Amino acid sequence: MERKIKILGIAGSLRIGSFNRAALRAATKLVPKDVVIETAEIKDIPLFNQDLEKRLPGSVKKFKEQIKKTDAILFITPEYNYSVPGVLKNAIDWASRPYTDNSWQGKPVAIMSASTGMLGGARAQYHLRQMFIFLNMHPLNRPEVIIANASGKFDEKGNLIDEETKKRIRELLEALVTWTKRLQK
Ligand code: FNR
Repeated sequence: MERKIKILGIAGSLRIGSFNRAALRAATKLVPKDVVIETAEIKDIPLFNQDLEKRLPGSVKKFKEQIKKTDAILFITPEYNYSVPGVLKNAIDWASRPYTDNSWQGKPVAIMSASTGMLGGARAQYHLRQMFIFLNMHPLNRPEVIIANASGKFDEKGNLIDEETKKRIRELLEALVTWTKRLQK
C-alpha cells in the first residue's frame, strides 16, 4: 500500500472569520484518497529578527519541522494592498532561515487565494511565485484557484457553498499530488 501524501496548509490570514482559513478547512475535506492536509498555525510566530537566528523561537522551530516533514505545501492567502499579508511574509522569511537551513528547499507548492474583491487575490499569488524562486520551491502552475467575491461563496458558518470553487479546489489538490509524486521520483 502506498503511503499517504502529506500536504501542509498555511493560511495567510489570522482572522477567525477569515475566508482563506475557511477555504483551507474546505480543502481538508476535498482531498483525494490517500492524501492528508495538516494545518500550520502562524499566529504565534514573532516578528522576524535576524539576531534570533542562532536561537530560534520555539514557534519557529515547530513551523520549520512541520514544513520539513511534509511532502508538499499549500498556501491559501488573502491579498493585502496588492501583495501578501505581512504575517505570511514574516512566517515565510523565518522558515527560510538561517541561510543554510531553508525549510522550503525543493518543496512542491500550490497556491489558492480568496478576496472579497473582484480579482480574488491574484496579485498576492504572483508575489508568492516570485518568492518561490529564491526559496527554491517548485510551484504548480495549474489549475489556478482564485476565489473572487468570497463573501458570496461561504455561508455564515464559513462553509464553502460554491460548487464550482469546490471542483477547482479538488482539481488543484489532485494536480498537486501528481506534481509531488513526479518530483519525488
Ligand atoms: C484588504 N483587502 C484587499 N482585497 C483585495 O482584493 N486586494 C487588496 O489589495 C486588498 N487589500 C487589503 C488590505 C488590508 C490591510 C485588508 C485588511 C484587506 C480585502 C480583503 O480581500 C478582505 O478583507 C478579505 O476578506 C481578507 O481575507 P480573510 O481575512 O477573509 O481571509
